[in-house]
Amino acid sequence: MIEVRGLTKHYGPVLAVDSLSFDIRPGVVTGFLGANGSGKSTTMRMMVGLDRPDAGMVRIGGRPYGELGWPLRKVGTLLEAKAFHPGRSARAHLMALAAGSGIPASRVEDVLGLVGLDGVARRRAGTFSLGMAQRLGIAAALLGDPEVLLFDEPVNGLDPEGIRWIRTLMRSFAAEGRIVFVSSHLISEMALTADRLIVIGAGRLLADTAVAELSARSVSLEDAFLELTAAGAEHGSAVRADRPGGEPPSSGPPGSGPSGRGLYPPAANGATATRHPSYPTEWTS
Ligand SMILES: Nc1ncnc2c1ncn2[C@@H]1O[C@H](COP(=O)(O)OP(=O)(O)O)[C@@H](O)[C@H]1O
Ligand SMILES: [Mg+2]
Repeated sequence: MIEVRGLTKHYGPVLAVDSLSFDIRPGVVTGFLGANGSGKSTTMRMMVGLDRPDAGMVRIGGRPYGELGWPLRKVGTLLEAKAFHPGRSARAHLMALAAGSGIPASRVEDVLGLVGLDGVARRRAGTFSLGMAQRLGIAAALLGDPEVLLFDEPVNGLDPEGIRWIRTLMRSFAAEGRIVFVSSHLISEMALTADRLIVIGAGRLLADTAVAELSARSVSLEDAFLELTAAGAEHGSAVRADRPGGEPPSSGPPGSGPSGRGLYPPAANGATATRHPSYPTEWTS
């Protein structure tokens, strides 16, 4: 399990992530949905120690990322496309990562085959298309056979075949009982990929719910989402529904949200920092 608690991050006057708390459970694909600029990448960077939070903490299997021995063997990340030296071959890139984490060289061949790059393993990675670069990033994430996969907008720029491939991969990893956390600004993609959704807007939690539960709140997942972000912008409220073992929403006044249930009252934290403009109406860019 991953526990995110009170995570907060400012960039100058911009409040990028605002007291964010949620859990991510193994065995399902958890989508992290929010508009461009809503704080998804900042949150994911803080989860793996690439950015330092102003407040709050993240525990992965009970420990902060920085205290995991051999982190590549615990958490596989795809946080940036093309996070490799362009002059190195795909194989050399993976070999270097493996050597740095005590992973046997034979595993490099395994993951090259798994992502379908075995035929181009000697080519300089700098010559790769975006789709091939994403596959190399995923090979790196899988190298340590990790229990946790964190993918930030993995389908961006991919063709339909590549999108389906990544979706199938994530679902099969979740089915093996791993933790899969994947961000997207695309509702349609999340509808196809995720079982659960963490929805954020302007750095704040808007919903922590099952995809089916959120869809059932309106005529479509997209409508439910847009109602949620509009309500969240007004009230700062969050939907927490269908949380196995979690606390039921008890304190929200009835009728305080689109469906009149499952809504928390406005968060107590003040709007002292400048917020970036929230919620574009187009979601397909
Ligand atoms: N390194 C940075 N310096 C300054 N502002 C940043 C930086 N990274 C992100 N931000 C700002 O923080 C907010 C959240 O950004 P980000 O986490 O990238 O959102 P998302 O991944 O959801 O698109 C945005 O307003 C963005 O401009
Ligand atoms: Mg991002």
